[in-house]
Amino acid sequence: MMQNQVDFFHQPVLLNKVVDLLNIKPGEIYVDATLGGGGHAEAILKQGGRVLGIDQDPEALAFARRRLQTCPAPKGSFGGENAFKAVEGNFADLKQILNQEEVLQAAGILFDLGVSSHQLESKQRGFSFGLDEELDMRMSPKLQVKAADLINGLGRKELYALFTKYGQEKLAAPIIKVILEQRRQAPIKNTKRLADIISKVYEKRRQRIKIHPATKVFQALRIAVNDEINSLKAVLPQAVDILKKDGRLVVISFHELEDRIVKQFLTEQEKSLQILTKKPIMPSIKERRQNPRSRSAKLRGAQKI
Ligand SMILES: C[S@@+](CC[C@H](N)C(=O)[O-])C[C@H]1O[C@@H](n2cnc3c(N)ncnc32)[C@H](O)[C@@H]1O
Repeated sequence: MMQNQVDFFHQPVLLNKVVDLLNIKPGEIYVDATLGGGGHAEAILKQGGRVLGIDQDPEALAFARRRLQTCPAPKGSFGGENAFKAVEGNFADLKQILNQEEVLQAAGILFDLGVSSHQLESKQRGFSFGLDEELDMRMSPKLQVKAADLINGLGRKELYALFTKYGQEKLAAPIIKVILEQRRQAPIKNTKRLADIISKVYEKRRQRIKIHPATKVFQALRIAVNDEINSLKAVLPQAVDILKKDGRLVVISFHELEDRIVKQFLTEQEKSLQILTKKPIMPSIKERRQNPRSRSAKLRGAQKI
C-alpha cells in the first residue's frame, strides 16, 4: 500500500500543477525521469497512470521502491504485478533505459530537476554548507569526480568560468584568490572550510545577500560534478521522440540556466510540440512559505503534436 508519511525525504513541488499538465490517462505509461522520493510518481499512480521511475541515486530508488512498489496495476504492468518500476540510470541515457525496459512510447515524461531535500540534508553527501563533511556532491556513487577534486584541481580560469557560468557568482575572482592561497597550504576537502572562505570574502567586502554567501558556489560545483546542464541538453530531444502523439513533456527547473535551456528547446520544437505554458508556472506564496525550497521553481509543459 502507498504510504503518506514520507514527506521528510522530499516534498514534491507544484504537485497539482504537474498532475494537471501531465493530463494523466489511466493505464498509460508515464516516465518520471527524476524519481527522487517518489512524490510526483505517487500522484501519477493515484490517478491510474503507470510509472517508470528513473534516478541515478540508489538512495532515492530504495526509498521510492519501498514507498510505491506495491501499488496495484490499473491495467497492464511492469513485470506483471506492479504499476510502478524504478530503474537506476542517468536520464541522459533515456532512450537506452526505455529500450531495456521495453517501453517504446510514453504518454508523459516528467523532469523535476536538481537535488532532493534528502540529498541536500543527508550526512556524507557533501551538498550542504550547513554540515561539515567531505566536499562530495555526487548524486550517483558511479561518478568519479567529487567537488573537492574540482576545488583543488582546477586552475584560476576554470574556477572562474565555473563559478560565473553555473553560479552567477559576482565575487568569483576574490573568492578564487583565497581558494588558491588556502589550497597551497592544504587541500580544501571539507564543506565548512569552503563555506567559511566564501563567507569571509563577503564579510570583508561588506556584501550583504539574503541567501547564504556560499549558495552560488555550491550550486555551481554541484552542477559541474553531476554534469547537469549537458544531461538536460542531451535528454530533451530524446524525450520528444519517446512521447506519443498528444503526450506531455513537463519540466520543473530551479535556476535560470536550466529554465533558459528548457524554454529555448520548447520554442525550437514548434513542429513537434505545442507549448502549454506561455509563461512558466511558479509556486504560490502559500507553497513558497510552506516549502521554501520551491521558491525558485519554474514549471513548463508542452504537448507532442
Ligand atoms: C528534485 S528531486 C525529485 C523529487 C521527486 N520529484 C519527488 O517528488 O520526490 C531530483 C531527483 O532527480 C535525480 N536526478 C537529477 N539529475 C538526474 C539525472 N541526470 N539522471 C537521473 N536522475 C537524476 C536526483 O538524484 C534526485 O533524486
